[in-house]
Amino acid sequence: MILDKIEKGVLIASALIMMLFIFSLLYSLDKRSRNITECLPYNKTYEKARVEKLDDKTYQVFMVAKMWSFEPAKIYVPVGSDVDFFLTSQDVVHGFNIAERNVNLMAVYGNVGQATVHFDKPGVYKILCHEYCGIGHQFMEGEVIVNYPR
Ligand code: CUA
Repeated sequence: MILDKIEKGVLIASALIMMLFIFSLLYSLDKRSRNITECLPYNKTYEKARVEKLDDKTYQVFMVAKMWSFEPAKIYVPVGSDVDFFLTSQDVVHGFNIAERNVNLMAVYGNVGQATVHFDKPGVYKILCHEYCGIGHQFMEGEVIVNYPR
Protein backbone atom coordinates (compact mmCIF):
# COMPACT_ATOMS: atom_id res chain seq x y z
CA MET A 1 0.00 0.00 0.00
CA ILE A 2 1.07 3.53 -0.69
CA LEU A 3 0.50 4.66 2.92
CA ASP A 4 2.92 2.04 4.21
CA LYS A 5 5.57 3.40 1.90
CA ILE A 6 5.07 6.93 3.14
CA GLU A 7 5.14 5.77 6.75
CA LYS A 8 8.34 3.88 6.13
CA GLY A 9 9.87 6.94 4.52
CA VAL A 10 8.91 9.11 7.47
CA LEU A 11 10.33 6.56 9.91
CA ILE A 12 13.63 6.36 8.07
CA ALA A 13 13.87 10.13 7.80
CA SER A 14 13.22 10.63 11.51
CA ALA A 15 15.72 7.91 12.40
CA LEU A 16 18.34 9.68 10.30
CA ILE A 17 17.57 13.02 11.95
CA MET A 18 17.87 11.41 15.38
CA MET A 19 21.23 9.92 14.44
CA LEU A 20 22.46 13.26 13.16
CA PHE A 21 21.30 14.89 16.39
CA ILE A 22 23.06 12.33 18.60
CA PHE A 23 26.19 12.52 16.50
CA SER A 24 26.37 16.31 16.72
CA LEU A 25 25.73 16.15 20.47
CA LEU A 26 28.60 13.71 21.00
CA TYR A 27 30.79 15.74 18.69
CA SER A 28 30.20 18.98 20.59
CA LEU A 29 30.71 17.24 23.96
CA ASP A 30 34.05 15.97 22.75
CA LYS A 31 35.08 19.44 21.59
CA ARG A 32 34.23 20.98 24.94
CA SER A 33 35.51 18.21 27.18
CA ARG A 34 38.80 19.92 28.05
CA ASN A 35 37.56 22.70 30.24
CA ILE A 36 34.35 21.17 31.43
CA THR A 37 34.04 20.78 35.18
CA GLU A 38 33.02 17.44 36.55
CA CYS A 39 32.08 15.68 39.75
CA LEU A 40 34.02 12.67 40.98
CA PRO A 41 33.16 9.87 43.39
CA TYR A 42 34.08 11.06 46.85
CA ASN A 43 36.61 9.66 49.26
CA LYS A 44 38.41 10.90 52.38
CA THR A 45 41.74 11.60 50.68
CA TYR A 46 40.20 14.75 49.19
CA GLU A 47 39.95 16.22 52.71
CA LYS A 48 43.73 16.40 53.05
CA ALA A 49 44.82 19.76 51.58
CA ARG A 50 47.99 19.47 49.53
CA VAL A 51 49.77 20.10 46.24
CA GLU A 52 51.22 17.18 44.34
CA LYS A 53 53.65 17.55 41.49
CA LEU A 54 53.19 14.94 38.78
CA ASP A 55 55.91 16.37 36.55
CA ASP A 56 57.49 19.78 35.77
CA LYS A 57 54.31 21.03 34.09
CA THR A 58 51.57 19.04 35.78
CA TYR A 59 50.27 19.61 39.27
CA GLN A 60 47.38 18.36 41.35
CA VAL A 61 45.92 20.66 43.96
CA PHE A 62 43.74 19.12 46.65
CA MET A 63 41.90 22.20 47.83
CA VAL A 64 39.85 22.29 51.02
CA ALA A 65 37.48 25.21 51.52
CA LYS A 66 36.39 26.08 55.04
CA MET A 67 35.13 29.05 57.02
CA TRP A 68 36.89 31.27 55.96
CA SER A 69 39.90 30.25 54.00
CA PHE A 70 41.20 28.02 51.27
CA GLU A 71 43.84 25.47 52.04
CA PRO A 72 46.44 25.53 50.55
CA ALA A 73 46.08 29.33 50.46
CA LYS A 74 49.05 29.89 48.14
CA ILE A 75 49.96 27.64 45.26
CA TYR A 76 53.19 28.08 43.32
CA VAL A 77 53.48 26.65 39.82
CA PRO A 78 55.75 27.44 36.86
CA VAL A 79 54.51 29.12 33.67
CA GLY A 80 52.92 26.68 31.28
CA SER A 81 51.55 24.40 33.98
CA ASP A 82 48.40 22.35 33.83
CA VAL A 83 46.83 22.26 37.25
CA ASP A 84 44.12 19.79 38.25
CA PHE A 85 42.07 21.21 41.08
CA PHE A 86 40.15 18.84 43.33
CA LEU A 87 37.88 20.83 45.54
CA THR A 88 35.87 19.97 48.62
CA SER A 89 34.53 21.74 51.71
CA GLN A 90 35.04 21.05 55.38
CA ASP A 91 31.80 22.75 56.41
CA VAL A 92 29.26 24.85 54.53
CA VAL A 93 28.97 25.43 50.79
CA HIS A 94 31.68 27.69 49.38
CA GLY A 95 32.37 29.02 45.91
CA PHE A 96 35.61 28.73 43.98
CA ASN A 97 36.49 31.17 41.27
CA ILE A 98 39.91 31.88 39.79
CA ALA A 99 40.32 35.39 38.40
CA GLU A 100 41.06 35.53 34.65
CA ARG A 101 40.60 31.79 34.30
CA ASN A 102 37.31 30.28 33.32
CA VAL A 103 36.85 28.31 36.53
CA ASN A 104 33.74 28.28 38.62
CA LEU A 105 33.16 25.47 41.10
CA MET A 106 31.18 24.89 44.25
CA ALA A 107 32.84 23.38 47.29
CA VAL A 108 30.39 21.04 48.97
CA TYR A 109 30.99 18.87 52.02
CA GLY A 110 31.15 15.22 51.02
CA ASN A 111 31.60 16.04 47.35
CA VAL A 112 34.52 16.80 45.12
CA GLY A 113 34.56 19.14 42.15
CA GLN A 114 37.28 18.98 39.54
CA ALA A 115 38.65 21.41 36.99
CA THR A 116 41.86 21.52 35.00
CA VAL A 117 43.39 24.94 34.45
CA HIS A 118 46.24 25.91 32.17
CA PHE A 119 48.44 28.82 33.29
CA ASP A 120 50.34 30.15 30.30
CA LYS A 121 51.19 33.60 31.68
CA PRO A 122 53.07 34.57 34.85
CA GLY A 123 51.16 36.40 37.52
CA VAL A 124 49.16 36.16 40.69
CA TYR A 125 45.71 34.68 40.13
CA LYS A 126 43.23 35.39 42.91
CA ILE A 127 40.96 32.62 44.12
CA LEU A 128 37.71 33.94 45.54
CA CYS A 129 34.79 32.41 47.34
CA HIS A 130 31.70 33.56 45.45
CA GLU A 131 29.06 31.88 47.60
CA TYR A 132 27.97 33.67 50.76
CA CYS A 133 29.23 31.49 53.60
CA GLY A 134 28.99 33.61 56.73
CA ILE A 135 30.61 36.54 58.44
CA GLY A 136 34.09 36.01 56.99
CA HIS A 137 32.93 35.41 53.43
CA GLN A 138 34.47 38.52 51.90
CA PHE A 139 37.90 37.68 53.29
CA MET A 140 37.93 34.15 51.96
CA GLU A 141 40.54 34.00 49.24
CA GLY A 142 43.65 32.27 47.97
CA GLU A 143 46.27 32.75 45.29
CA VAL A 144 47.82 30.83 42.46
CA ILE A 145 51.29 32.29 41.89
CA VAL A 146 52.62 31.52 38.45
CA ASN A 147 56.38 32.05 38.06
CA TYR A 148 58.93 31.40 35.43
CA PRO A 149 60.81 28.24 36.25
CA ARG A 150 64.18 28.81 37.93
CU1 CUA B 1 33.36 30.71 51.56
CU2 CUA B 1 32.03 32.61 50.91
